[in-house]
Amino acid sequence: MDKINKTGKGFFIAFEGIDGSGKSTQIHILNERMKQAGICCYTTMEPTDSPIGSLIHQIMTGRVKADNRVIAALFAADRLDHLLNDVDGIVHKINEGTTVITDRYYFSSYAYHSVDMPMDWVIQANGPSSDILRPTVTVYLDISPDTALERIAQNRFHQELFEKKSRLVKVREKYLEAFEKLADVERVVVIDGSRSRQEIADDIWREVSRCLDVR
Ligand code: ADP
Ligand code: TYD
Repeated sequence: MDKINKTGKGFFIAFEGIDGSGKSTQIHILNERMKQAGICCYTTMEPTDSPIGSLIHQIMTGRVKADNRVIAALFAADRLDHLLNDVDGIVHKINEGTTVITDRYYFSSYAYHSVDMPMDWVIQANGPSSDILRPTVTVYLDISPDTALERIAQNRFHQELFEKKSRLVKVREKYLEAFEKLADVERVVVIDGSRSRQEIADDIWREVSRCLDVR
């Protein structure tokens, strides 16, 4: 059973979906299953808790104002730091043979920011990240904005900037557009996220273990 890539590197798995799609729930379950399969995993998320990530959080909660292009560029910078920083950078982890699971990566930028600006601009701004590291597989949890908002409303006291229905409808469309646009270079599995936690987890494990060849 292959625990790491043939090159000795870890795998890189990105989870994507609109807010409330169940990413953190499923990352937790996948992490446990990977452990049982003997694969050492590190889980992480974007935006990060770096200084750039904190600035992003301040913008998202309305405490700091910024132009849409600045916001998109900050996310791209946060991502590069996420990949490259000396302390817990993803590239370093992967090179030492650790598999990394991230809650959001550049497809989040393609989907969320291209609602306000051309998708090609966003893809170009993230060119350094895609040059450095493309996910082994991107898992997209597909869920309707209505279901996502019901779940968010049940479990959170406040809604952030992007958690509005009309926006989530557009973001979902943009995700699907980005997957189609990049189908030749990216490996994406679309999972129906509207079912029970267990059904979704079983589907994800089937797809991920096939991509990683760890069944
Ligand atoms: P995300 O990380 O994508 O924002 P979460 O995993 O935090 O999503 O899930 C959002 C909310 O929905 C959480 O309260 C979670 O417990 C709940 N939830 C997650 N998966 C399901 C599911 N399959 N069915 C019903 N509720 C779910
Ligand atoms: P957060 O509450 O951390 O995530 P979630 O609701 O998925 O648990 O908020 C992240 C928000 O940032 C989410 O609305 C998506 C948005 N986002 C972007 O707009 N661009 C990006 O590049 C990334 C990574 C996230």
